[in-house]
Amino acid sequence: MMTLQPTSERALSHAPVMLTEALAGLAVRSGGRYVDATFGGGGHTRVILERGGVVLAIDADPAAAIRANALRESLDEPDRFTFAAGNFGEIGAIARRSGFDQVDGVLFDFGLSSFQLDDPERGFAFRFDGPLDMRMNPAVGESAADLIARISEAELARLIREFGEESRARQIARGIVAARTREPIIGTARLAAVIEAAVGGRRGAKIHPATKTFQAIRIAVNDEIGAIERGVRDAIELLAPGGRLVTIAFHSLEDRPVKSIIAAESAACVCPPEQPVCTCGAEPRLKRVGGSKRSSELEIAHNPRARSAVMRVAERLPGGKRTDREDR
Ligand SMILES: C[S@@+](CC[C@H](N)C(=O)[O-])C[C@H]1O[C@@H](n2cnc3c(N)ncnc32)[C@H](O)[C@@H]1O
Repeated sequence: MMTLQPTSERALSHAPVMLTEALAGLAVRSGGRYVDATFGGGGHTRVILERGGVVLAIDADPAAAIRANALRESLDEPDRFTFAAGNFGEIGAIARRSGFDQVDGVLFDFGLSSFQLDDPERGFAFRFDGPLDMRMNPAVGESAADLIARISEAELARLIREFGEESRARQIARGIVAARTREPIIGTARLAAVIEAAVGGRRGAKIHPATKTFQAIRIAVNDEIGAIERGVRDAIELLAPGGRLVTIAFHSLEDRPVKSIIAAESAACVCPPEQPVCTCGAEPRLKRVGGSKRSSELEIAHNPRARSAVMRVAERLPGGKRTDREDR
């Protein structure tokens, strides 16, 4: 078994979520080939490597690439680890380019790493003041500040409602648009203050009134739901028969597309329910492995972020044809 350099205190504070469950879900074996689509701090990758796996890790964040280089340098067998910078929405092309096809497992641990949340410069958190950026890769696409400066009030309200599941979306959008006409909103603290004022203060709320809006803007800036849909569909193509798909989601918006793709790909027939005879000829490509799983109480006690985690596991079946209706 390969030896790894001692885990730093910093890495310990960024504990991988549902690690034991993810390894069991992937059915990691020595010599198996795995794609970790969300490298982050490398918590899951490290342990797959320790178990003898061969790993292609992907992350859009340039800071994750630096951590991946450091990990590679610490390995006795660096050839078992490859890192590719990129968006997991293009996991198929990235993996094939890196020589990973017909793999034994693909892991997605969605959302943000604590490295990103703890860095004021990235603009994901409102507990510090920082530039309103929120891009997974700050070199690609439009920042949150630019998005907020550009879109209409109606569009802003829609995205806050849809991606933040925020019932006060119209009120908040109105407040943001009024504030931006006075002065551009370019910092996290100002945006949080504008939102708080728009909803009339905290009034004993359990979470900060800006929480859902920050989530919504982050999801929109990074097209997170689109990337999940494309990434999970592509990952199914990459799996060898018997290969495992494992996803860890932190809210229903992330989990919902995964759930529906797995359901469609596990269905024997996708004909409309009112049709008496099956004509679709679909064959399932996936088999669900257990139901959705939650973190243990013990893990939640040590890592509060684990509280909202939901894991899904599915196995690639031999043969099978695409079964989702949109593609037929
Ligand atoms: C929750 S963290 C992963 C933590 C990791 N499993 C660990 O144990 O350290 C999620 C990571 O996914 C990355 N990410 C999010 N969306 C992405 C996307 N569409 N493409 C590539 N990476 C993405 C983020 O940059 C972040 O580093």
